[in-house]
Amino acid sequence: MSGTTRRTGTALGAGGLARVLPGAGPTGPGRENPVAGDVPEAGEAGRPGETASARGAADEPSRYAPEWLRLREPADAAARATELLGPLRSGLADLPAPPGRLVVHDLGCGTGSMGRWLAPRLAGAQHWVLHDRDPSLLHVAAVAAPADAADGSPVTVETRRGDVTRLPPDALAGASLVTASALLDVLTGEEADALAAACVRARCPALLTLTVAGRVDLTPADPLDAEIAEAFNAHQRRSGLLGPDAVARTGEAFAARGVAVRVHPSPWRLGPDRRELTAQWLRGWVAAAVAQRPGLRARADRHLAERLAACRAGELEVVVHHSDLLALPRSADGGV
Ligand SMILES: C[S@@+](CC[C@H](N)C(=O)[O-])C[C@H]1O[C@@H](n2cnc3c(N)ncnc32)[C@H](O)[C@@H]1O
Repeated sequence: MSGTTRRTGTALGAGGLARVLPGAGPTGPGRENPVAGDVPEAGEAGRPGETASARGAADEPSRYAPEWLRLREPADAAARATELLGPLRSGLADLPAPPGRLVVHDLGCGTGSMGRWLAPRLAGAQHWVLHDRDPSLLHVAAVAAPADAADGSPVTVETRRGDVTRLPPDALAGASLVTASALLDVLTGEEADALAAACVRARCPALLTLTVAGRVDLTPADPLDAEIAEAFNAHQRRSGLLGPDAVARTGEAFAARGVAVRVHPSPWRLGPDRRELTAQWLRGWVAAAVAQRPGLRARADRHLAERLAACRAGELEVVVHHSDLLALPRSADGGV
């Protein structure tokens, strides 16, 4: 684990983050491929945005290109379930001993999009502890961290490099809130269970967002969509990963520990205004499906070419269903 503490001088939104990212990306040569479908090894790739070394298929864990995370950030922001903010604020107000500042642990923070979205929606001073195993993403997250809370209180950040599935027992001690975004579906059932247990030990709310739900709707529809979706979901479940089962499994893990869970849809709605993201997502979606079912390749390649043409023409709409999960300890005195 390594850590740095910074107080940022300027709040950077998605546009600011784009300025922070140099052309080649902070990950350096050979790690720039924004989506699985763009690289020769696409057949071995994981899911949209991952590079080729799929977790479980090699020792090296999957890497996420910062360009992909930047591309998806506005769609993520539009998708996040604002309906959970009210209950979250109530849960934070009910914490047994309100600290002088909120301490938020963001697990698998990537370039820090969760903090940029959530910090300005919560009042009061905040300290964000950003966890990721990728040091270059942590660097971007620290540089592009939000500066101000909803009421103008300061927001500070600290980065911790490491595997969030192997957190030391006291890693979340003193946390007011645990967050994660687009992380649960790349965990195994045991890892999700351990994550829930760690949040419960910390006796704080957990907001775990943008987990794939295993459903996509493409308009206009095509009979091959269902076959590709099924293969993609099977690929997501490879090597024991939860994929589309993640929200149900994690919800059960919290519920088994007496923690109330709310789940709300948070779909990406990709239309002509998000053509670049839609195209990147399509390539990764099809590449993962073909990796899982190589017999699909010829039909899937034709299908992808047609879909990309429709996307370029502004004639394709895609809804990628996700879910946000909020886990709230039942009582302020630790009834968890
Ligand atoms: C899909 S990206 C999401 C990033 C960010 N939360 C967002 O919403 O933009 C998943 C992130 O989780 C990190 N990650 C995945 N598994 C991890 C693990 N076991 N330990 C630490 N980080 C992990 C990856 O490095 C990546 O930054």
